[in-house]
Amino acid sequence: MTVTTGGHRPGTVTAAASAKINLALLVGDRRPDGYHALATLFQAVDLADTLTVTGSADGLRLAVDGPEAAGVPTGPDNIALAALRVLARHTGHDLTSSGVAVGLTKRIPAAAGLAGGSADAAAALVAGDALWHTRVPRAELLDLAAALGADVPFCLAGGTAVGTGRGDLLAPALTRGPFHWVLALADTRLATPAVFAELDRSRPRSTPEPVLAPAVLAAVRAGDAAALGPLLVNDLQPAALALAPRLRQVLDTGTDLGALGAVVCGSGPTCAFLAADRKSAMRLAAALAGAGVARQVLAVAGPAAGARIVSPAG
Ligand code: C5P
Repeated sequence: MTVTTGGHRPGTVTAAASAKINLALLVGDRRPDGYHALATLFQAVDLADTLTVTGSADGLRLAVDGPEAAGVPTGPDNIALAALRVLARHTGHDLTSSGVAVGLTKRIPAAAGLAGGSADAAAALVAGDALWHTRVPRAELLDLAAALGADVPFCLAGGTAVGTGRGDLLAPALTRGPFHWVLALADTRLATPAVFAELDRSRPRSTPEPVLAPAVLAAVRAGDAAALGPLLVNDLQPAALALAPRLRQVLDTGTDLGALGAVVCGSGPTCAFLAADRKSAMRLAAALAGAGVARQVLAVAGPAAGARIVSPAG
């Protein structure tokens, strides 16, 4: 294969997409389509998967590497390949005559509440669009993203945003960042549908329409981590704790070690802790790692960008 002096191969595009955390996640009733009405405040953080697409003669193929590659499906059910099929159908690109070899480097753990799969789908949409020069308008890409999963539109958009509907109707939120987070990765996985099902089982129906508290939006707008810490909220947390009781100890340990706030990420099992600044986050991460309650501890910051092309440079 020829390598250009620019460092990228012709017909190759690399995209990155960030993990998300939910600073607030309020869950309403289960809807007839099986999804739940949400009101959530998303923030993208600087932990990203990268996805490289290369034109190929033989259909769609996927190879996965990276520190979180274990257990990620490489067959046609991988959501990044689903995203390329959806984009091909939308743009009229013929995958049988002009396929794609996909290389995915996983740094975002799977089934961890961090939207890792959704990030891969968002990266695949922007990478495929650039590879095929299809220039799909942003609004159409967001519609394709929503068809792939409730978190995919946010992974495309990045930043900090309020999500309503299934979490796929987005409005950007004003932020004065950065916010510094510590993520405690668990050695177990939680399946999102199982966590929502546990929530439905454990609480009465007819919860009121979820609405975010103005205080949480104000804290994010002001860049006020001390105010935001106690306002972190996740309606899925009790269900995640019921399915993975050890998470209680993880949350308590982070709080005891001085976190400004502690919350389960999405449907879990990752726990997020808020720190006052980068230095405090590094200190908290080291202390949490030392406490031995997590498989791995990462210090990250948000807001981070949404899905984006990283090579070739635009
Ligand atoms: O859209 P996505 O495939 O990521 O959602 C995974 C599962 O999470 C859904 O099948 C559903 O069980 C649950 N979910 C939900 N309500 C939402 C988002 C996800 O019930 N708003």
